[in-house]
Amino acid sequence: MSAGEFDGLVAIVTGGASGIGLATAQTLSARGATVAVLDRALDGLPDDLVGFTADVTDRPSIDAAVAQVAERLGGIDIVVNNAGISAVGTVAENDDAEWARVLDVNVVGMARVTAAALPWLRRSAAASVVNVSSIAALNGLPQRALYSASKGAVLALTYAMATDHVAEGIRVNCVCPGTVHTPFVDRMLQGFADPVAERAALDARQATGRMVDPVEVAAAIAYLASPLSVSTTGTALDVDGGVSHL
Ligand code: NAI
Repeated sequence: MSAGEFDGLVAIVTGGASGIGLATAQTLSARGATVAVLDRALDGLPDDLVGFTADVTDRPSIDAAVAQVAERLGGIDIVVNNAGISAVGTVAENDDAEWARVLDVNVVGMARVTAAALPWLRRSAAASVVNVSSIAALNGLPQRALYSASKGAVLALTYAMATDHVAEGIRVNCVCPGTVHTPFVDRMLQGFADPVAERAALDARQATGRMVDPVEVAAAIAYLASPLSVSTTGTALDVDGGVSHL
């Protein structure tokens, strides 16, 4: 892919202040997009990215931020629904409040942001939505019942949205990363009795023997967001170090 392939396009990246979202925002910006980061916390955001404080669980905050992006940046062509939180445990260990909290961020948040952006996506000649699912949607991971359910819902949501909006010229795809070394994973590791052993187990779980780098997921998201993937909609692209199929 060439530098400048996103020239003239405006992209929203939710959760773009950290990890996979930040790597994606920087990749799209380096290739010519004007990037708006929507995040509940914008600490340390690089200067070439425009930040908007918004929480994906708060519909008025999302509606206002998305409208501001369109007004200030001249429309919306690309939405990367990346904001998400982790949850560790079996069904015996997560209570109802935790289920509601995680599904609200990981699933309903994507619906809220996409719905808010639809009026502008419909006017774009290069409209693309990319959702961040996970291999947890595809494989039975231990201790991830709630998280896996949320990412399975993202996969199904991707297929449904792709069908609903294909006639409007809006493509919808998702990526399914394996374990990616981001602050999200570092925080999760601190919850284990032996974080070093758990880190080694996460590396070993990848067929490639190491966690995925955030820029590798960003490159896959950029492909699906780019006009180069114009014939691709309703697909899930694994970026998982071979976990799912080897
Ligand atoms: P991260 O924790 O490094 O970054 C997540 C970002 O989302 C943060 O900037 C955070 O402030 C923001 N965010 C969280 N809740 C929000 C809310 N309610 N409203 C707005 N912003 C919010 O996480 P990471 O690892 O970069 O994960 C990004 C996405 O990738 C998530 O959807 C996660 O489930 C998914 N994923 C991560 C994998 C990993 O191994 N790190 C593997 C597969 C998927």
